[in-house]
Amino acid sequence: MRFRFLAAFAFAAAMTLTGCKPAEKAPGNAATPVADTQPIPPILLTPEAQDVHSYANPREARVTHVSLDLQANFVDHVLAGTATLDVAAEPNAQKIVLDTDHLTISKVTDGAGHALHYQLGQSDPIHGAPLTVQLGQARTIAIDYQTAPDAKALQWLAPEQTLGKKYPFLFSQGEPILNRSWIPTQDSPGIRQTWDAKITVPEGMNVVMSAARDSALGALAAGDRRTFSFKMDKPVPPYLIALAIGDLRYKAISDNTGVWAEPAMVDKAADEFADLPRFLDAAENLYGPYRWGRYDLLILPPSFPYGGMENPMLTFVTPTAIAGDRSLVSLAAHELAHSWSGNLVTNATWNDFWLNEGFTTYAEGRIMEQVYGADREAMEQDLMWSDLQDTIKQLGGPKSPMTKLHVDIPASQNPDDGMTQIAYDKGAEFLMTIEKAVGRDKFDAWLKGYFDRHAFSPQTSAGLIEDMRATLFKDDPRMAKRIGLEQWIYQPGVPANAIHVKSEAFEEIDAAAKAFAKKGDVTAVPTDMVTQETIRFLNDLPRNIGTDKLAALDNQFHWNQTGNSEIRFAWLDLALANKYPPASKSAEQFLTSQGRLKFVEPLYTLLMQQADWGPALAKQIYAEARPTYHPVTQAGVDKIVGWTGTPTAATN
Ligand code: BES
Ligand code: ZN
Repeated sequence: MRFRFLAAFAFAAAMTLTGCKPAEKAPGNAATPVADTQPIPPILLTPEAQDVHSYANPREARVTHVSLDLQANFVDHVLAGTATLDVAAEPNAQKIVLDTDHLTISKVTDGAGHALHYQLGQSDPIHGAPLTVQLGQARTIAIDYQTAPDAKALQWLAPEQTLGKKYPFLFSQGEPILNRSWIPTQDSPGIRQTWDAKITVPEGMNVVMSAARDSALGALAAGDRRTFSFKMDKPVPPYLIALAIGDLRYKAISDNTGVWAEPAMVDKAADEFADLPRFLDAAENLYGPYRWGRYDLLILPPSFPYGGMENPMLTFVTPTAIAGDRSLVSLAAHELAHSWSGNLVTNATWNDFWLNEGFTTYAEGRIMEQVYGADREAMEQDLMWSDLQDTIKQLGGPKSPMTKLHVDIPASQNPDDGMTQIAYDKGAEFLMTIEKAVGRDKFDAWLKGYFDRHAFSPQTSAGLIEDMRATLFKDDPRMAKRIGLEQWIYQPGVPANAIHVKSEAFEEIDAAAKAFAKKGDVTAVPTDMVTQETIRFLNDLPRNIGTDKLAALDNQFHWNQTGNSEIRFAWLDLALANKYPPASKSAEQFLTSQGRLKFVEPLYTLLMQQADWGPALAKQIYAEARPTYHPVTQAGVDKIVGWTGTPTAATN
């Protein structure tokens, strides 16, 4: 047998559901039919499944359930309380090793309250510190701890940084290895854990998590604090445990979908994502029943560093996706698709991040095509193709090892460093190529089966190839050879059999861009371009088109002021490269009003490359914007602009 699995012990989760009616309109357990409870899933013990970015020792002992009881302290920016872990261990296991990052541990006890010996190892800037607990006979351990005010996974926002300006806000972002800065557990994507949480917050604030919420407990008042309680009864990789606290309201879109947002945003958000139920239908059509109960979106404050994060049952979304015309909603299709690719079948290590993102980008396209039609999707695919070419150039050309799907990120490097657009675009291209080769029906049936066969399990590139050979290519192994599975996954560049989907609508746009670049006649530019056409048009224009032509466009389209973040970004990318002076103010406004990495990092990079005026402007804008950015965004931009300001003090 190729795989060996760690014997896992079943345990009884001692959670009692109150079964009470929700005290408010917000979704709670009562409204959530909870599907079958999963057994403790296996750990993959193949060499490729070894995670060098976790200190955990899952072969000896592994966490199977995490139970959090935490108080949120908005004065000191600290979460404090207890994490109680259920452990499955080999009979002669000595110890369990957990991941932590700047956690202050005050006590570790067993289930009966007896102290256990533990040791917090040396802290490493990327991985944090191992917490080794001597188990003895204990199979439950309770850790009293608190987080550091600058915990990497957490952003504490002052009231001024929210829409309502009245309450502070907190949100977490776990992927890839940040959750160890607020949860002491085995923080590896291959080690799945069920979990529950009790979160106590100041009166007036609401708590949401990536799990079913028990509204009845949420209503319990204790002094001027309220405790909310959550339960995730399906085993998830720990990076998917997520928390947000703020002045949040819920608006339903359908029975099982809706949005959470600050009050001033919730109607707008529900309208923008009104097609969410259609996305869910399309996804279920393709990949089988949605297994997580509800599917809600949480709209975060603008400092959220990502476009979206696929936290189970509750995708976290940047407000920059709300354009007002639903033109950027593919983001929700993407995060929803992760409910299968990523959250059901999960990359065993971050070296196979493409298994999460490539499959998801492919499925996102299929959902979009089903809901909005092939023409709209062809535009997205064509943009993706250009994006892939640009990414390859940026990464040093088609021979660069960075352009491989499976990457090898050594322990000395941050897993973030291997997470590029390659995983998304080349990953999706790979699956499109296979789909084309075997036919859509056969491919769809295979992919649906793949999600079922590996549900709630970790996966590697080697495991994928093995599965494909045993199923999809069983009767035609030569087909696998022709496609070149190994070349696609383990070699750099994009194989020649890749499919470039071309949008017919873009033909007119490309012609208009060409004509405009040549003559500068703005009447040659269509005035009714949709978002994807506008982006194509802007990306088509030469980076040295000159300020006169940009002024003509500015006059006609006012892209310096557009509230569509993707258009604003494409415009600024062009205008700053051309040193177009009126873009400076717009760049400053854009960079100080949101902190999404995808927009922020390239624009600072571009400014730093514009000799004479650029670096000074970048530094001036950053001095203002930095305090509002998420720790991850700060770390990224610090490197780009060579920030020498006082670094945030380390706390232990
Ligand atoms: N899982 C990612 C976000 C992520 C990636 C967080 C790596 C941390 C590390 C999410 O699903 C994603 O891909 N978001 C994209 C948007 C999507 C529409 C391509 C983003 O944030 O830009
Ligand atoms: Zn994704």
